[in-house]
Amino acid sequence: MAQLNINGRTHNVEVEPDTPLLWAIREQVGLTGTKYGCGVAQCGACSVHLNGEVVRSCSIPVSSIKAGDRITTIEGLSRDSSHPVQKAWAAIDVPQCGYCQSGQIMAAAALLAKKPKPTDKDIDEAMTNICRCGTYHRIRAAVHMAAGNTKVGSADAAATDNTTV
Ligand code: FES
Ligand code: FES
Repeated sequence: MAQLNINGRTHNVEVEPDTPLLWAIREQVGLTGTKYGCGVAQCGACSVHLNGEVVRSCSIPVSSIKAGDRITTIEGLSRDSSHPVQKAWAAIDVPQCGYCQSGQIMAAAALLAKKPKPTDKDIDEAMTNICRCGTYHRIRAAVHMAAGNTKVGSADAAATDNTTV
């Protein structure tokens, strides 16, 4: 049994100690916005925040979560999709298939919490999540918009060069 504080609520989950946090979040708690991609901390689809830091939940056993640790998933980023990153994502229409996008948004939110005005280099270094649809240009534009560096029109124009699979 593990006790997890997720999005401000405490959940007692019946899992083996080596169960990845991702599966506790999805299967026990029922929050399915966090996705499974590779399972080996490479793709970032499973990104959540642990005490404000972005982590890859597929590779964190629940036994490593301490009492008082705060986990935030995409469902807890805001009550009504009003987080600046979510608003920018919607304004620029970032997702294509969408599968990677909750992880991308969590990574972007963690980046902006640390660096409110990131450069392209900052974004490229921090946003290592994989998008098989190739939405990287729109992701970068949306991060700038969320940071307040661009308005909808200019960010949209910057993001039109999207590569598909
Ligand atoms: S599923 Fe966790 S990094 Fe890919
Ligand atoms: S939007 Fe399809 S994998 Fe990123």
